[in-house]
Amino acid sequence: MNNADPAPAPATPILSVNNIEVIYDHVILVLKGVSLTVPAGGITALLGANGAGKTTTLKAISNLLHAERGEVTKGNIIFEGNEVQSLSPNELVRRGCIQVMEGRHCFGHLSVEDNLMTGAFTRRDGNAAIRDDLELVYQYFPRLKIRRASQAGYTSGGEQQMTAIGRALMSKPKMILLDEPSMGLAPQLVEEIFEIVKKLNEEQGVSFLLAEQNTNVALRFAKYGYILESGRIVLDGEAKALRENEDVKEFYLGVGGEGRKSFKDVKHYKRRKRWLA
Ligand SMILES: Nc1ncnc2c1ncn2[C@@H]1O[C@H](COP(=O)(O)OP(=O)(O)O)[C@@H](O)[C@H]1O
Ligand SMILES: [Mg+2]
Repeated sequence: MNNADPAPAPATPILSVNNIEVIYDHVILVLKGVSLTVPAGGITALLGANGAGKTTTLKAISNLLHAERGEVTKGNIIFEGNEVQSLSPNELVRRGCIQVMEGRHCFGHLSVEDNLMTGAFTRRDGNAAIRDDLELVYQYFPRLKIRRASQAGYTSGGEQQMTAIGRALMSKPKMILLDEPSMGLAPQLVEEIFEIVKKLNEEQGVSFLLAEQNTNVALRFAKYGYILESGRIVLDGEAKALRENEDVKEFYLGVGGEGRKSFKDVKHYKRRKRWLA
């Protein structure tokens, strides 16, 4: 033993995706060597336009590609130190990694509370613990408590997104793969949902990989971001650095050097992205 201060522990990744390639239908190459890491206790954003490959990346991690005739053909995925490509989605959920699908999938004919309870199906720690967690979900989402008996299909888009996240929480996850939580929601609700994500991260220690087209909001809540274009990571960095990057501002935040630009101007690609140069 020496009495020197121990070196600070490196930020251990809870998840690392290493150079994965994904092919759909045996021929359609969609991810062309994607690598990313999420530190334990982090919020990491995966950004990119529609069709960039965000959902494919999340489904590769959670092992949901088979249902889409997709396959990881290269690379590997490590969750908490173990390779997870060969696990079933349920086994991965049991180990603490769960995806919240794009489009806020709920069982429309079930009540909000029954939807939440379906999220506990992989658990074996008994009803009392599950009830406690249901109360915890209601603490984070008071709106859901009010709407607990309503048929989920008749609740608002924001409430359905909350139900989908709440349902994932019922599996007691260490990590949530959250696919486009802002999609189709009014800005105020988007803000409300991201604030809850932040609280869950800080208070419950849940790590997040957040796929978003809404670069602006994602980079305010994430600590680190990756930008995906046509199945490749073209840029990554601390969220703050990305927010200040001229290309990101111009192409993803819709703000050029001379102030706000219309999306149409940005789409004219006046300047070539540095990462394509
Ligand atoms: N099941 C599938 N079969 C064939 N191609 C697909 C399938 N799902 C997605 N793709 C294609 O993969 C690319 C990436 O899609 P996706 O991962 O959904 O992107 P994002 O989530 O960033 O919008 C798109 O070109 C899309 O058309
Ligand atoms: Mg998507």
